[in-house]
Amino acid sequence: MPTVFITGASRGLGLEFVRQYRADGWDVIATCRDPSAAPDLTATGAEVHALDVADDAALSALGRALAGRTFDVLINNAGIYPLKGPQGSFGDIPVDPWMECLRTNVVAPWKVAETFVANLEKAERPVLATVSSKMGSIADASSPGSVVYRSSKAGVNMVIKGLSIELGPRGIICLSMHPGWVQTDMGGPHALITPQESITGMRRLIANASPADNGCFYAYDGQEVPW
Ligand SMILES: NC(=O)c1ccc[n+]([C@@H]2O[C@H](COP(=O)([O-])OP(=O)(O)OC[C@H]3O[C@@H](n4cnc5c(N)ncnc54)[C@H](OP(=O)(O)O)[C@@H]3O)[C@@H](O)[C@H]2O)c1
Repeated sequence: MPTVFITGASRGLGLEFVRQYRADGWDVIATCRDPSAAPDLTATGAEVHALDVADDAALSALGRALAGRTFDVLINNAGIYPLKGPQGSFGDIPVDPWMECLRTNVVAPWKVAETFVANLEKAERPVLATVSSKMGSIADASSPGSVVYRSSKAGVNMVIKGLSIELGPRGIICLSMHPGWVQTDMGGPHALITPQESITGMRRLIANASPADNGCFYAYDGQEVPW
């Protein structure tokens, strides 16, 4: 059975990725900050490891622990959305939460890729998929607010493009994915779609990805998103 490695799997989209891949019989390596506080994740029967993606030492240690394993798919899913709405508007945005957001949403996906590239290279058709957001689309931006989150997702889109240029020639297909507006803790109860719909769509993108998709940005429904 193929193996998928997922970050930020304690709840929300990460947890639904784990559930769906497990239901399909995949070997799932799921990571989260605190496994002891993630009973829904441990109940899936996935192989669970502690990982704060912003902790470089922890990332290196997990890289050593998983050396030699094959990853068919790696999903950079962990993300944060500090300073939503009016809190994130022009005039008085605090620097520390912005830096934390960039550390988690932009830098960590690159460091995760560096850490596990050898695991991906062992697979026949490896896919490195990163959960970005349409809110990071510069072409789509037209309203004020949420610049902290928006700038982080615009930043991770460039990270993904950079990874596609580095890793495409090594046979790894790098995708940027918009999950839709989804009913999770982050998306809130009024979001438009369920985690089940979103993950079903993103898993389809991953399953159908070919080298021609390397470095592309797609929504969960298969539509290409403008950068
Ligand atoms: N929901 C939406 O509408 C929507 C739309 C566009 C994009 N996205 C993106 O989709 C991804 C998942 O979002 P979600 O809706 O599932 O959000 P969520 O319900 O808030 O869950 C976020 C997940 O990320 C984990 N996480 C945060 N910081 C982490 C870190 N430093 N190390 C490891 N894990 C960390 C959280 O772990 P803890 O439990 O430890 O906090 C949690 O498992 C994010 O990248 C988000 O930006 C979501």
